[in-house]
Amino acid sequence: MAEQFLRVDDLIEDLDRLLSWGESLKNDSEAGDFLPLMDMTVASIYEKPSTRTRISFEVGVRQLGGHPMALGASEMQLGHKESIADTANVLSRYVQGITHRGFGHNDVAELAESSTVPVINALSDDHHPCQAIADMMTIHEFAPEVERQKIAWIGDGNNVLHDLMLAATILGHDVIYATPDGHEPLPSVVNDAEAFAAESGGTVKRSSSAEEAVEDATVIYTDVFVSMGQEDDKNKLQDFEGYSVTRDLCSSADDDHIFLHCLPANRGVEVSDEVMDGPHSRVWDQAENRLHAQKSLLTRLLNDAAWDTYGEVMGVEGW
Ligand code: CP
Ligand code: NVA
Repeated sequence: MAEQFLRVDDLIEDLDRLLSWGESLKNDSEAGDFLPLMDMTVASIYEKPSTRTRISFEVGVRQLGGHPMALGASEMQLGHKESIADTANVLSRYVQGITHRGFGHNDVAELAESSTVPVINALSDDHHPCQAIADMMTIHEFAPEVERQKIAWIGDGNNVLHDLMLAATILGHDVIYATPDGHEPLPSVVNDAEAFAAESGGTVKRSSSAEEAVEDATVIYTDVFVSMGQEDDKNKLQDFEGYSVTRDLCSSADDDHIFLHCLPANRGVEVSDEVMDGPHSRVWDQAENRLHAQKSLLTRLLNDAAWDTYGEVMGVEGW
């Protein structure tokens, strides 16, 4: 088994550096000369659709000098004639890194178990760690002076919340989530976030209402109420009355708060147009940061030598 990034806390020791290098890759014009993935191929398996993840990985691998290879799961033998473990064994003989977007978290864990090259979770039903590193980079970008953010999550207790809550508590922030009964985040993930918060000085707690959660929040975050793979659960939406992020709801937040959404957004459902397109929204910067944060991640996992020297060469803060 090679190194893996299946949950954001898999690289807990490197989280700060992943973010600072992501910022450097975004802002330093000389970063384009650095090609740590030269001659490497990264295979990306998609069992679910994707816009941001697929394109940001493809562009990112190319910008780092490597070759991206997107594979629709239905075009492979995977799941029809070949097991996940056998697929991992075969891919490991051809490529230097694998990303996987799928359903049950056990599938990507099984892939990583049998792979001899690094495996990155590009979203499972339970985790979306690549999103979380871009989110924390965006939060830091727009409020670098706020050491302790109050991050209010409004909506479903899903994969995106899980890794956001882990990353934010590792970094010492306060997370408050308002989720309807029956749609809470996984208790095991909340326990892990509580343990990180106890170490870092942050907090994680549930709120009984969206109104309470957003009070004085510096970051307001929501995601779709019905995630990929849940489309058949026709009644799920009914449970989310009162959880839409509207301008009214945001009025008690910090004056300088930012609004985030991992996208794609279901406008008019979990978020109103006036919030998505409003002055506090940073959703396009957040989407862009997927690219920079993942380039940082790919270098960390696929080229340790470059990772060790990049910060010194580029003068990255906190290296
Ligand atoms: N946020 C995100 O992962 O978007 P895609 O589903 O378009 O990749
Ligand atoms: N929670 C959403 C995130 C999409 C990026 C889903 O899993 O569909």
